[in-house]
Amino acid sequence: MCESNNSVEAAMHVAPLELSDNRRQQQIEAALCELQFTMETVKKIGRVFESELEKGIHEEPSSLQMENTYIPELPDGTEKGKFLALDLGGTNFRVILLELDDGKVTDEKVKHYHLDDELKVGCGDRLFGFLAECISDFVKEQNLTGARLPLGFTFSFPMIQKALDVGILVTWTKTFNCPSVVGKDAVQMLKDAIHRRGDTHVEVLAVLNDTTGTLVQGAVLDNRTAIGLILGTGSNACYLERADRVQHWEGQRHGEKQVIIDIEWGAFGDNGVLDFIKTDYDREVDKNSLLATSFTFEKYISGKYLGEIVRVILVRLTANGLLFDGIASKKLLSQNSFPTSYVSQIEQDTVDGGNKNTEDILDKFNLQYTTEDIAVVKYVCEVVSNRSALLVSICLSRLLIRMDRPDTTIAVDGSLFKHHPRLKTWMNKYIQLLAPGKKFRLLLAEDGSGKGAGIVAAIALRLKERFQET
Ligand code: GLC
Repeated sequence: MCESNNSVEAAMHVAPLELSDNRRQQQIEAALCELQFTMETVKKIGRVFESELEKGIHEEPSSLQMENTYIPELPDGTEKGKFLALDLGGTNFRVILLELDDGKVTDEKVKHYHLDDELKVGCGDRLFGFLAECISDFVKEQNLTGARLPLGFTFSFPMIQKALDVGILVTWTKTFNCPSVVGKDAVQMLKDAIHRRGDTHVEVLAVLNDTTGTLVQGAVLDNRTAIGLILGTGSNACYLERADRVQHWEGQRHGEKQVIIDIEWGAFGDNGVLDFIKTDYDREVDKNSLLATSFTFEKYISGKYLGEIVRVILVRLTANGLLFDGIASKKLLSQNSFPTSYVSQIEQDTVDGGNKNTEDILDKFNLQYTTEDIAVVKYVCEVVSNRSALLVSICLSRLLIRMDRPDTTIAVDGSLFKHHPRLKTWMNKYIQLLAPGKKFRLLLAEDGSGKGAGIVAAIALRLKERFQET
C-alpha cells in the first residue's frame, strides 16, 4: 500500500517492516501509511509553505506570521562589554551574564531558575514579577547591583514586534498559558516588574525569539549563517530576508538591506492549509493538548509531541490486536506518558541494531512483548521521526531556494535535534534531494537563546547609538 515507484520518494520512506505474519505486517504498514508521504504530497507541502510565506510577508491572511524582528545586521566582531540575557520559553528559565570581546563570548555565567507550573499557567504579573526577582538575585550574586546592564530578552513565543524592544504576545505555546499576558508587550511587562523592584539598573534593549538568537549565535561561529532553526520542545525557524520584500516595518527605515524574519512555522496549517496530511493520530494529540487547534505544524514535528504521537499509535495498534497481544497497560493508556526522549532512545536501538533501550522502555510500561512487538515499536518511532525530519526539510529546502545564496549555513539548536540520533542525517539527505544544487550545512549552534540574546543586546546598543547620531 505504501510502496513507491519513484526513487526520490522511496528514499524518503523508512525501510519496510518485516514480520513473520504477513497479514499483521500489512495491517500495521497500512495503519502508518499516511505518515509516509508520496512525492506529490511532498511537493504540495512545499508549495503551500511557499504560498503561506508569501502571503505572510505581504500581510495577507496566512498561518505564517512572518514577523519582522528589526534585526538588520549580524555580529560584526566589534561587540564588546557585559550583557545580560534572559531565556524564557524552552525547557529551563535562565539568567545569563555574557562578556563579549571582538564579537566573541569570552566569559559566561549562567543560573537556572525553576519555574513552577503555577507560574507557567497562572497570572502574568506573577510570572514577570518572578523573572524580575531572578534578575535581581543574579545581579546581586554577580556583584553588579550598581552597574547599568543592557539586556536581551529571549521570549520564545509568537509576538507582534513593533520595534526591536517591543513584543506583543500573540498566543502562548508549548507548556505556558498565562491568559492575561496575551495582547500585551512582554518587554513592557518585564520593565514594569524590574521597575517595581527598583533594585537593579537593567535596561531591556531587545526582545527576540530563540530561533533569532540561534541564527545570531550561528553567525558568530560561521559567517555564512542565514537561517536559524529550533527543533526542541517547540519548533520554528527564522531567516535573513531582503528588507525590500518586508512590508511590515513600523518606525523609520534606515536603509536596511536585510532583516531577520521570524517565520513562526509552528502555526503553519492552523488555517487548515495542511489538513491534507493530518491523520487521526494527529487529531487525537491535538485534542488532548494544552492549546488545542493551534500550532498544527509544531504538533507534527517537535519534541513536545513526537512521543505522544507514538503513544497514540501504539494504543491504536494494541486496540486493533496488532501489538502486545491486544493488551495495553495503564501507563500506556495515560496521556503524555511517552516522552520524546524515549523515541530518541528507541531510534538509537535501530541505529545500533540492538533492542536494549526499547526493552527497558517497554518494561517501564509494564507491557508483555515479543521480539516482533519490539520491531513494531521501533518501526512506529522511525516512521514518526522520519515524518518530522521530512517536514522540516521540505520547509528548509524552500527557504534555501527562495534565499538563493551561494552557500548557506543553517544554525540549529534544540533538545530534539541534539538527542535524536538521526534527524540530522535524514535532514541532510532530504534537503539535498529537495533543493538540488543548493550548498548548505546544518550547524549546531548551542545555546543560541542565551548567547544569541546577549549578542543581540550588543547589536541593539550599536544600532541605538548609530541612529541617535543620525
Ligand atoms: C514555539 C514558539 C516559537 C519558538 C518555538 C521554539 O513554536 O511559538 O516562538 O521559536 O516554539 O522554541
